Amino acid sequence: MEALLDGRTAVVTGSGRGIGKAIALKLASAGADVIVCDINEGDAAAASKEIESLGRKSMAVAVDVSDFQSVTDMVTSIYENFEQVDILVNNAGITRDKPLFLMAREDWEGVINVNLTGFFNVTRQFIMKFMKAKRGNVVNIASVSGLVGVPGQANYCASKAGIIGFSRAVAKETAKANIPVNCIAPGFIKTDMTAKLNEKQVEEALKLVPMKRMGTVDDVAELALYLASDKAAYITGQVFPVDGGMSC
Ligand SMILES: NC(=O)c1ccc[n+]([C@@H]2O[C@H](COP(=O)([O-])OP(=O)(O)OC[C@H]3O[C@@H](n4cnc5c(N)ncnc54)[C@H](O)[C@@H]3O)[C@@H](O)[C@H]2O)c1
Repeated sequence: MEALLDGRTAVVTGSGRGIGKAIALKLASAGADVIVCDINEGDAAAASKEIESLGRKSMAVAVDVSDFQSVTDMVTSIYENFEQVDILVNNAGITRDKPLFLMAREDWEGVINVNLTGFFNVTRQFIMKFMKAKRGNVVNIASVSGLVGVPGQANYCASKAGIIGFSRAVAKETAKANIPVNCIAPGFIKTDMTAKLNEKQVEEALKLVPMKRMGTVDDVAELALYLASDKAAYITGQVFPVDGGMSC
């Protein structure tokens, strides 16, 4: 039986670990060849090996998505090794949580540069190729923090709300070429990002989750697979929370 993504090639940023790695493996297990892009070269190489062990073609690329030139080099090396790219998952993201009155300019700029400008740097370069080929699919990993305010995350909330606006605008630009652009807004997901929180912070966060548990990376990856596939071909410019009811 033909798999959902047979013959497709996907690029997933920040896929050395966490949600990005789970998405990369999910797309590969559905038949896609997957390029693993991450600032951590060792993690990217290890994730890429796992994809190859599933029988798919893969490649690891070290990239800092906040640096336009680094992204340009990444795109060049991808197209040297792969004929085409069909799916882009923008996932690389960071947090630097602090109440606003303690937030340094570096905390603000660091998060905006990776989470928002990083999505511009990568999408800007692939969208030209997608429009020319009249095929492509973009899945952007935003956050429930882009839909509701979270104290201590003014920088992160601003970056994720920005991604949602960015995605809606690009979706309208690319609709004519049948290129969907959608966002996933994960809630409170068990990864290294949330492992930084202490027990008290986890307890407080879970009070906001009606399902009373953290989500798994697979909860997010399942939706990414669906959105990246032809099954979701008529869905664009939308935001899908995966948050145990947090934003409802
Ligand atoms: N974990 C959660 O609860 C949660 C909730 C909502 C949204 N998200 C979003 O999901 C995405 C993945 O988060 P995660 O929890 O897996 O985090 P994580 O910290 O486990 O993984 C992030 C990955 O991105 C990479 N990365 C960081 N900066 C980069 C850069 N400048 N260039 C390239 N790669 C870079 C890291 O090396 C890492 O592999 C992020 O965009 C995050 O904001 C996570």
